[in-house]
This record gives sequence, structure tokens and C-alpha cells, in this order.
Amino acid sequence: MDLLLIGPPGVGKGTQAARLRQTLDIPHLSTGDLLRRHVSEGTRLGAAAATHMRRGDLVPDELVTEMALGQILGPPCAAGVVLDGFPRTPAQAEALDVALAAHGRRLTAALHLNAPDRTLLRRLTGRRTCGGCGDSYHLDTRKPRTPGRCDSCGHRLVQRADDTAETARTRLAVHTRQTQPLLARYRLAGVLQEVDGCGDVGDITQRLLAALAPHTMQSSAC
Ligand code: AP5
Repeated sequence: MDLLLIGPPGVGKGTQAARLRQTLDIPHLSTGDLLRRHVSEGTRLGAAAATHMRRGDLVPDELVTEMALGQILGPPCAAGVVLDGFPRTPAQAEALDVALAAHGRRLTAALHLNAPDRTLLRRLTGRRTCGGCGDSYHLDTRKPRTPGRCDSCGHRLVQRADDTAETARTRLAVHTRQTQPLLARYRLAGVLQEVDGCGDVGDITQRLLAALAPHTMQSSAC
């Protein structure tokens, strides 16, 4: 089952993808996480991506598409994947459809999470991330047991460089301009499902699983 979580920055794609990975037992692929790893390891791709990411802009299609498809078509994702943050442009979506079709696969569902901008800005500016294991926290809604330290590995929590109020606003505008057009594509393909991204994290997971129920029942019947 190939699933796409689509939605604006801060809506909870990463949070929910991690929960779906556990429940559905399929890997989670976040292009944002992959790109941040390239940046921190100082690879050529990371150097090319860093300026775009710092500004809140998208990384050019050709860089992201090659990186993402390499993972999606690799053995760990052969039975399916939860995609988080890819595709984000029509060119990326086209490349994904072609690559999946060449391997006898197609997107099972595109789950569109949404929430008002003021909620998204609050989630983004309050997010703190573990510099060690990458776990995500929030100053108000997911506090660590020891302030500033990760519950899992004890590393220091840091604010992502693109989570300042100014860059978060740019990211929301970029999403509206470049990623929202994908909704029409997936609606037309009959795979788009709208899911409310407001409220309790567990309730949102239940909404996502309910939206996926026809597909999960189908695959367990096979
Ligand atoms: P990426 O890392 O993908 O960032 P994003 O899409 O902007 O999404 P976020 O990770 O900020 O938010 P999220 O929706 O995952 O929310 P989360 O669950 O963390 O991409 C970063 C950059 O990389 C891009 O700007 C671009 O430059 C580049 N890039 C990546 N992919 C690309 C592509 N395909 N093409 C080109 N460029 C690309 O939650 C956020 C916070 O809210 C957390 O603190 C969380 O604890 C909290 N939270 C979550 N759910 C709830 C809830 N229900 N209630 C209260 N708090 C909640």
C-alpha cells in the first residue's frame, strides 16, 4: 500500500506518518528528514538544498525527485510506504506516478490533512526537535519530561532553522502556491481523502485509519 500524507507545514504529517507506520507496518519516508540529514552530513546534495530550506523555499525538483525515488523503489519500501513531504509539485507527482507504474504500483490514497494557519504557526514555532534521535516535541502540547532534553536519548532539543515565525509564513505561502495544485490531480485520480488535522493526535490517527479502512480491509482479504 503506497500512501501519501499531504498538507501544509506543521499540520502533523510527520507525527501521523510515524503512527501509521507502526499500525500498518509499512515504512515512513520523509523527504524533509532525508534532506536535513544530507545538510548535517555536508553532502553535495545537502549543500545544494540548504539555502532553499533556510529560506523556506522548495528544493529544486531534480534534486528531490532522484533522492526520493531512489528510496521509494528500494527494497525496504517494495511492499509500500507512507510518503510524507513528497511529492510537492506537479513535476514530482508526475515522476512518482510514472515510477510506481513501472513497478506495477500506484498510489492507494492521498490523505489531505488541513488546519487553520494560526494553528499551523503555533505548532511550527513551538516545535522543538531532538538533535540526537530526531524525536519531535512541542513547548505547549508535547513537553519533554526534563525541559530542553529528549525523553528517549537525553540529547538537547533545538528549534529547526525554518521554524521561526517569518520562515514558517514563507513555507505556508509556498505550500499554497506549489503543493495545493496537487489536490486537484489526486481528486481527479479518485484517491484524495480530506481529513481534519485539528484536535487530539490520537483522534486524528483514528480519522486517518477510518479513511483508509476500505483499503486495509481489501488487502487483509487478499
Ligand atoms: P519538511 O520537513 O517536510 O517540512 P514541512 O512539510 O514543512 O512539514 P513539517 O515537518 O514542518 O510539519 P509536519 O506536517 O510534519 O508536522 P509535525 O508532525 O512535525 O520539509 C522541510 C523543507 O525541506 C521544505 O521547506 C523544503 O525546503 C524541503 N523539502 C522537503 N520535501 C521536499 C520536496 N518534496 N520538494 C522540495 N523541497 C522539499 O508537527 C509539527 C508540530 O506540531 C510538532 O511539534 C508536533 O508535536 C505538533 N503537533 C502535531 N500534531 C499535533 C496536534 N494534533 N495537536 C497539537 N500539536 C501537534
